[in-house]
Amino acid sequence: MSDVKTAIRLAVVGHNPLLYLCTTEEDRVVGVLRELAAEPGSGLSEPRLWSCTHGLEGVEGGAAMTDPAAALAAVAAFEGPATWVFADLAPFMQRVEVARRLREFYFAAREKGDRRIVIIAPETVVPEMVRKEVHLIDVPPPDEDAIGAEIERFRRDHPDCGLRTEDWTEVLLALKGLTLAEVGHILRRAARGGQATREQIMEALFAEKEMLVRKAGYLEFCPPRLKLSDLGGLDNLKDWLEKRRRLFTREAMDAGVQMPKGLLMMGVSGCGKSLAVKVISSFWNLPLFRLDMNLIFSGAYGNPESAFRGALNTVESVAPAVLWIDEIENSLGMDEKSGVHIASHIFSAFLTWMQEKPPLVFIAATANRISALPAEIIRKGRFDQVFFLDLPADSERAEIFRIHLARNGIDLADVDMNILTIMTEGWNGAEIEQAVIAARVEAYYEKRKATQGDLSASIARIVPLSQTMEEQIKFIRSWAFSRAMPASKFGKMKRRLVQ
Ligand SMILES: Nc1ncnc2c1ncn2[C@@H]1O[C@H](COP(=O)(O)OP(=O)(O)OP(=O)(O)O)[C@@H](O)[C@H]1O
Ligand SMILES: [Mg+2]
Repeated sequence: MSDVKTAIRLAVVGHNPLLYLCTTEEDRVVGVLRELAAEPGSGLSEPRLWSCTHGLEGVEGGAAMTDPAAALAAVAAFEGPATWVFADLAPFMQRVEVARRLREFYFAAREKGDRRIVIIAPETVVPEMVRKEVHLIDVPPPDEDAIGAEIERFRRDHPDCGLRTEDWTEVLLALKGLTLAEVGHILRRAARGGQATREQIMEALFAEKEMLVRKAGYLEFCPPRLKLSDLGGLDNLKDWLEKRRRLFTREAMDAGVQMPKGLLMMGVSGCGKSLAVKVISSFWNLPLFRLDMNLIFSGAYGNPESAFRGALNTVESVAPAVLWIDEIENSLGMDEKSGVHIASHIFSAFLTWMQEKPPLVFIAATANRISALPAEIIRKGRFDQVFFLDLPADSERAEIFRIHLARNGIDLADVDMNILTIMTEGWNGAEIEQAVIAARVEAYYEKRKATQGDLSASIARIVPLSQTMEEQIKFIRSWAFSRAMPASKFGKMKRRLVQ
C-alpha cells in the first residue's frame, strides 16, 4: 500500500485536484487517506465521504445530497481545505452535469492546491470531458507486509490454528494478489474446524480463486486431481518440472532465481499434452485456469481484444497460477496455406504480455497443428521450453498400461506386459487407455475380472492413429526435430537450440 501512499502524496504536491483510484478496496484506500491526513505537513485534510446512500459528510444538510450533482455543487461551494472522497461516482460519470461539475472543480481548485476530490471505483470510467483533468492512480493489490499483518492478526485471534511458521512464507506468497478482505475470508474459512493448516488454507485459497475467476467468465478452473505418477513416461518433461518445482516459492524469489514463464507442448494427438498441463498444476501446487479462446472470440464478452486483455488481467489477479491455453494454434496461430494470422491483434497482444507478464503466472500451452504456429511463438525467450510429445516408447507404453490397469482395477499379475507392449507398437496413451477401459467393460458385462484375453481382444479392435495418420505423424516428427526438445528420454532427436 505504500506505493499508493506515495502516489497520493505526489498528487498532493502536484496540486492535482481530481484523483481517480481504481480499486474495489474502498476501506483500504480511505484508510491510507486517513493515515496521510494525520501526517503533519502532508497537505491532505481529513477525508469526507460521499456515497449515493448516505450523501455527503461534513456539510450542512449533506445527508440529503444523495444525488451526485447536488453533492458536487455543495463541494464547489465549500470554502477551505478539504478532501472529498466519492465512492459511488463511476456509474454517474457519464451524466453531463457530473462531468461538468468535476471539470469546474478542477479549474477552481488547481491553483489553491488545498482541496481535492478523490474518486474510488472498481472500474475506470472517465468521460472525455475530464480525461485530461483526472489523475489516475494505480492501486496494486496489498503488498506482503499488509498480508503478513493480516495473517499475524489472524494468528493472534486463533492461537491454536496450526499454521506453522515454516509454512508462513508459502502461504503469504499464495495469498498475494487478493484483497485484504479476501485474505481475511480465506483464513477464517480455512479455520472453520478450529485449525488452519497450510493445506487447509491452500484449499480455501484455491476455492476463492476459482470463484473470482468464475465471476469473470472466460476462464475455467481445473481442479487439481492428478499426480505426477498419473503421467506415464515423458521423463525429460518430468525432470524439467521437478527441477522447477520449488521456484514458485519465497526462498527462490529471495535468492533471485528467475521463475519460468511458460512451457509449450506440442505433438502427436493423445500423447498426454493436456494431461501434462493438469499434472503441472498439482505437482507445483498452483491453481490451473484454462482460457477458453472460443468464448473470447464468441463476442459474449465484448470485442475479442478487450475480452482477451480482461482474461489476462483476471489471471494476473489470482496469481500465482498456471494459465492453460489449449490448442494455441487455433486462436493465436495462422492459416497454414496463406500464412496470415488468424487474429493478429490478439496475437501481438499475447506476445507483448508474454514479455512483460507478472512472473507469478505460468503459461502452459499446447499445440497439435504445429505448422500453424508462427515462428515468433516458438522463438526462445517466449517459452522457457518447447517440448515435443511423441508416441511412447516400449517401456513408456508399459508404464501407461500400469497406470490405466491400476485405475481400472485390473491386477498386474493377470497380464503379460511384454505382449501388451508388443501389440501396441506405435500407439498413443489415449488409445492404450481406451483398450484398457474396453477390456474392463467387456469383463464387467460378464461379471468377471478382466484378463489378458480381454485386453488382447480390445487391442485388436482398435486401429491406432499412427496407422491412419502415418503421413501427418511423420511430418510432425520432422518438424519437431529441429524445433523442440523431446519430452521422452527415448526421444531419438538430438536437442538443438531453437533460433
Ligand atoms: N503419458 C501418458 N500417461 C498416462 N495416460 C496418458 C498418457 N498419454 C495419454 N494418456 C491418456 O490419454 C488421455 C488423453 O490424453 P491427452 O488429452 O492428454 O492427449 P493430448 O496430447 O492432449 O491429445 P490432443 O492433442 O488430442 O488434445 C489422457 O487423459 C490419459 O488418460
Ligand atoms: Mg489435448
